[in-house]
Parts: sequence; structure tokens; C-alpha cells
Amino acid sequence: MYIQSLALTSYRNYGHTELQFDNKVNVMIGENAQGKTNLMEAIYVLSMAKSHRTSNDKELIRWDEDYAKIEGRVIKKNGPLPMQLVISKKGKKGKVNHIEQQKLSHYVGALNTIMFAPEDLNLVKGSPQIRRRFLDMEIGQVSAVYLHDLSLYQKILSQRNHYLKQLQTRKQTDQAMLEILTEQLIDAAAKVVKRRLTFTKQLEKWAQPLHFGISRELETLTLQYQTAVEVSEASDLSKIKNSYEESFQKLRDREIDRGVTLWGPHRDDLLFFVNGRDVQTYGSQGQQRTTALSLKLAEIDLIHEEIGEYPILLLDDVLSELDDYRQSHLLHTIQGRVQTFVTTTSVEGIDHATLKEAEIFRVASGKVID
Ligand SMILES: Nc1ncnc2c1ncn2[C@@H]1O[C@H](COP(=O)(O)OP(=O)(O)O)[C@@H](O)[C@H]1O
Ligand SMILES: [Mg+2]
Repeated sequence: MYIQSLALTSYRNYGHTELQFDNKVNVMIGENAQGKTNLMEAIYVLSMAKSHRTSNDKELIRWDEDYAKIEGRVIKKNGPLPMQLVISKKGKKGKVNHIEQQKLSHYVGALNTIMFAPEDLNLVKGSPQIRRRFLDMEIGQVSAVYLHDLSLYQKILSQRNHYLKQLQTRKQTDQAMLEILTEQLIDAAAKVVKRRLTFTKQLEKWAQPLHFGISRELETLTLQYQTAVEVSEASDLSKIKNSYEESFQKLRDREIDRGVTLWGPHRDDLLFFVNGRDVQTYGSQGQQRTTALSLKLAEIDLIHEEIGEYPILLLDDVLSELDDYRQSHLLHTIQGRVQTFVTTTSVEGIDHATLKEAEIFRVASGKVID
């Protein structure tokens, strides 16, 4: 798939801008603070109905305006697909093919994007929360069912935590309600964990050969979904549920004591190993960078495998940061199959062959000139 045209209205520092894109590589050149990242972000938000750098949607609306609008014409295998997302102070509304979607979980998935930005190194280095968010966003792109299960899990989790707090402070003494909430929680948790396990396996399958190549055939990358209960990657739902049931039985007194749910997918993590060693702890900066790059590139194939189309790749400030060897790997992976957006302050450090074929745009104070 690719984005043929994009229109922004009152999005960040953009007034009204309409753009046409090439279906291969589009390079945005501009000084700092001109609107390059804002443009990448707008494409990402059109796809995910969420920003990659803020959870506060109001920041996306141009100062002193009431709403922001992003419109895109996406070309897919089956034909053109107009998409529209309006962000107002009251909330977000998404349209696909001119039809307003009742839920954003139905909106997400029509346009698939992969963003690679400098802060993605945090995927390897940062807290487990960042990796859980990564799992949720990426699985959510290819599975509306997952988004549904996840939000159900989060709803029950907060009810259960609330109830545990009441038991802790003895405002409640009846444990029957806790039983019911625990059953419901386990049901949703098992679905979330099962999907995350499958995704981890799929991601490893695609990331491993990429990492091997980028590391000049020196490093084997493996992934592990880390969860407190005992599950194996082949676990079926009922096995996962059984493990949780046992754990929650054992944990009950401690949970009431602490007033919070102690185990579940909201505490899990995704671990990366290079030649068997944890990259987060032992990896060099270079190994961490290669890991992050391999994971992002792996998603291109993963999404293609899941939905039969290639996603759009957004490279914000990262291409010129990669050495020639990594750049050529990246370009080899996309090889004209993937519409790519690149931002940079200068063309220096960007592979010539790539630039020759690219459409060049200049970004200055919220305006784009091609
Ligand atoms: N809601 C907003 N309304 C107007 N301008 C904004 C808003 N949010 C950010 N900006 C402005 O956008 C500019 C940053 O744009 P950005 O895309 O991050 O720059 P860069 O080209 O360096 O990637 C800053 O000047 C910032 O003040
Ligand atoms: Mg930027």
C-alpha cells in the first residue's frame, strides 16, 4: 500500500497543506523545528489514531485552533481508500472510505505504518512499559480482535485493582466478587498473552536473518516473551488459563495485602538476546542499534505476511545516523516494495542511489515545497 496524497489542517505547526507523494522514497529536508517530525507524526497518527511521541492528543492541534484534521488517500491492492482522522478537544473521529467508524479499534489497521525514530533505541534500552506498548501497537495494527481483548483486559484489571484496594482497607470483606473478577481477568489475560507469544515468534523469525546479515553474520538474535506464569510458546489458551489460575490461588493473600493485581500481561516484558546474552544488559550501543533496526525491518515482512500488503515506512532522523553498511541493508530490505518517508537536515550521509530515485521535499516553518 502507499499514500498517494495527504492533506493536513491545523495539525501542529501546519495551517493547511496538501501533498502528493511518490510510491517509493520521499525525502523531507529541512532545518530543525520546521515540521519534519510533525509531518511523519501526522502520517503515523492517520494510521494508528495515536501519536508515537505523546499520549496527549490536544498537543496535535495547532495552537489556538479547535481541531486538527488529517486526510489521506491510500492506494491498496483493491483500490484507493480515503481515510480521515479529526482530532478535537472532545476526542477523535475516524473515517475509512467516507464511513465514520464507531470505534477507533475498527479504524486502526486500514493503513499500516512502521515508524523508526531515534527514540526507538529505547525499545531495547528502556523500561518494560515501552516494550509492552510496542507489542500492543504492532499487534493492534494487524488484529482488531487483539485491541478488543486488550481493552477488555485493562478494564477488568482496573476493576479488580479497585476491589483489591477495598479488601485491603477492609471496606469490603466479600471475596466472592474477587473470584468473579479473577475469572474474567484470566480469560482476557490468556488471550492477550497467547497473541503476544505468537507475535514474538513471528517477529523473531523475520528479525533473525536481518540481524544476522547486518552483524556481518556474527550475531544470532533471539526473542523471548517474558511472563510470570509458566507458558511455553506453544501454549494453548486453556494451558495459559490453568497457569494463571494456580498463580492467582497462591497469590491471593499477598494481593489483598498489597491491594493490587500482581501478575498479568500488564507486568510482562519482551527480551532480546544476541548470541544468548541479554542485549539490554550486555549489548554495546551498536548491538542495541542493530537489534532495534532488525525489529523494525522485520515488521515489514510480518505485516506483509499477516495482511498481504507492505506497510509504509517512516524513517525520522535515522537514515543519516546509520552507517553505510546498515543503510544498504535497510535499502535492500525495502527494495522499491515499500513506500518510505525519510527526514533529514541535509542530504549528506544519505546513499546516492537512494537519493537519485527519491522525490525531494523541502520543509520550512510548517510549509512543504516539492
Ligand atoms: N500544537 C502545535 N501548534 C503549533 N506549533 C507546534 C505545535 N506543536 C509543535 N509545534 C511546533 O512545531 C515545531 C517542531 O516541529 P518538528 O516537526 O518537531 O521539527 P523538525 O523539523 O525538527 O522535526 C516547533 O517549532 C514547535 O513549536
Ligand atoms: Mg524532528
